[in-house]
Amino acid sequence: MHVLICGGAGYIGSHMVKLLAEQGYTVTIFDNLSTGHREAVKWGTLVQGDLLDIVALDALFKSNQFDAVMHFSAKSLVGESVEKPALYYLNNVIGSYNLLEQMRLHDVDKFVFSSTAATFGNPQTATIDEGHPQVPINPYGRTKLAVEYILGDYAQAYGLRSVSLRYFNAAGADPSGMIGESHDPETHLIPNVLKAVLGAGSNLRIFGDDYDTADGTCIRDYIHVNDLCEAHLLALKYMDKQDGAQAYNLGNGKGFSVLEVLNAAMSVVGKKIPYEIVERRPGDPATLVANSQLVTEQLNWKPVFTQIDEIISTAWNWHNNSTF
Ligand code: UFG
Repeated sequence: MHVLICGGAGYIGSHMVKLLAEQGYTVTIFDNLSTGHREAVKWGTLVQGDLLDIVALDALFKSNQFDAVMHFSAKSLVGESVEKPALYYLNNVIGSYNLLEQMRLHDVDKFVFSSTAATFGNPQTATIDEGHPQVPINPYGRTKLAVEYILGDYAQAYGLRSVSLRYFNAAGADPSGMIGESHDPETHLIPNVLKAVLGAGSNLRIFGDDYDTADGTCIRDYIHVNDLCEAHLLALKYMDKQDGAQAYNLGNGKGFSVLEVLNAAMSVVGKKIPYEIVERRPGDPATLVANSQLVTEQLNWKPVFTQIDEIISTAWNWHNNSTF
């Protein structure tokens, strides 16, 4: 089976490439390398190109017979999306549309889409299940929700099979240490904490300690990148027997505050990590925790990395020896 991985040189995409290659799939990676890394492509065949380049996409689909497509290519920073919505609508919506049109033209009918908890907006319940209203509060979330709508309509009209996976906070790295998270600039909590230990980033700042949570810092549901990738593999197999457009929330179902993450990191690295409390970061909801019962029931998905210190350990293993 030949799978096209758009964004396969990026953080989550590269872990997916590794898993599929290990499972015996043929993998082609299409990536413009704007945020991905050539060094992260250790399996499969890399085709450097952009989803906005229809000629390149057409050539890619003409020269390969893909059985399925996984789509990890996106702009994904909430703050940046508020400042540059045009960039987000162009990359995330038009890019996805171009890809889906090529699939339609070339009769490829299985699609796994990287969606996000940001499609829900401010939570109205303690944990967020698939029935929670989707009212995104930033352009990033709206671009991802727009693609979810497209997938629903394409399923109905053209029979496209799809699974949208709404990630909560992707974290950790493959335990092999061969690939991991590498963004520039880095905005995510766990890498920033670990870079502060290594003296590789700026000093650690915690964005607000006056939220309505037990310790005043934001609570998030951290999910290991390999567990996310397992869900993609299950989704791929599920579409063999299931048509329509499905969507699932992916998290561990347990929230950790920023200070709890910091404490767990201190015990993993065995050092005190200095930090300062600064202003709240615009657009951060106080709490985001998934209810992932549906994906457990329907896809038989079960996360392996359920402890925050295990997740941080794999990230530490990567950051301590990272090669890109
Ligand atoms: N935080 C800090 N200091 C930092 C970095 C983050 O205090 O240096 C805080 C944030 O304010 C937030 C928490 O740590 O409260 C987690 O922040 P991240 O940036 O790691 O992750 P987000 O929850 O903001 O965003 C992630 C993805 C988004 C996605 C969102 C959906 O990166 O793409 O989850 O839940 F939209």
